[in-house]
Amino acid sequence: MKLLYNPASPFARKVRAAAIELGLGDRIQLELTLVAPCKPNKDYASSHNPLRKIPALVTDGGMTIFDSTVICEYLDAMAGGATLVPREGDARWRVLTNHALAQGMCEAAVQVRYETWLRPEALRWQDFAIDQWDRIDTGIAWFERHAAELAGPVNLAHLTLGCTLGYLDFRWPERDWRTPNPAVAAWFSALKQRPSFALTAPENPPAS
Ligand code: BEZ
Repeated sequence: MKLLYNPASPFARKVRAAAIELGLGDRIQLELTLVAPCKPNKDYASSHNPLRKIPALVTDGGMTIFDSTVICEYLDAMAGGATLVPREGDARWRVLTNHALAQGMCEAAVQVRYETWLRPEALRWQDFAIDQWDRIDTGIAWFERHAAELAGPVNLAHLTLGCTLGYLDFRWPERDWRTPNPAVAAWFSALKQRPSFALTAPENPPAS
C-alpha cells in the first residue's frame, strides 16, 4: 500500500500511527505529496482526491481511499476489525464522539496554521484565529475533565488527540497547554513513548 502524505500533517500521522498500532506499519510505503490551499496540485486532484487533501491511501488493489478516518477504518478492518473502534455498544459511540471532538480540534489547529502563515498578511483575520484557538483549548479542557476517556487500549480518538497535541507542540512550541491540563499532559507523555508516536514525530517536508 502507498500512503500519499506530508510529514508535517497531523492527519497523515494519525494514519501512520494507526498502521503501526495495528501491526501494519511495514506494509505502507510513503510518498511525499505537497498540497496547500490556493496551490492547486492538479495531478493529485485528478488522480487521487479532488479535494486536494492528504493523506490518501492507494491499496494493493489500486483503489484510492481517503480521508484519514476512512483509511484508519480500512486498516482496522484489514487487521481483523474493532481494535481502533469498538464494534458496538456505548463504547463504540463514545470512541466515535471523542474522535469527532479530537478531529475538530485538529482541523481548527490546521486552520490557525493557514490563517497565520499561509494567508497573505494584509488579509489575516485575527478573530478567526482566536476562535479556532478557543475550540482547541476548550477541547483539551474537555478531555482533562473526562480523563477516564483516555484510559484503556489506544483507540481512534486517542490517536487523533495525540496527533493534534503533537501538532500543537510542533507548530506552536511556546504555547503551554500542559499546565492547565495535567492529566492530558501525563497521558500524552506516555503516548509519545509508544513506537506509533515515537516513529512518526512531525517534520517539515524537504524544501522543494
Ligand atoms: C503543516 O505544514 O503544518 C501542514 C501540512 C499538511 C497538512 C496540515 C498541516
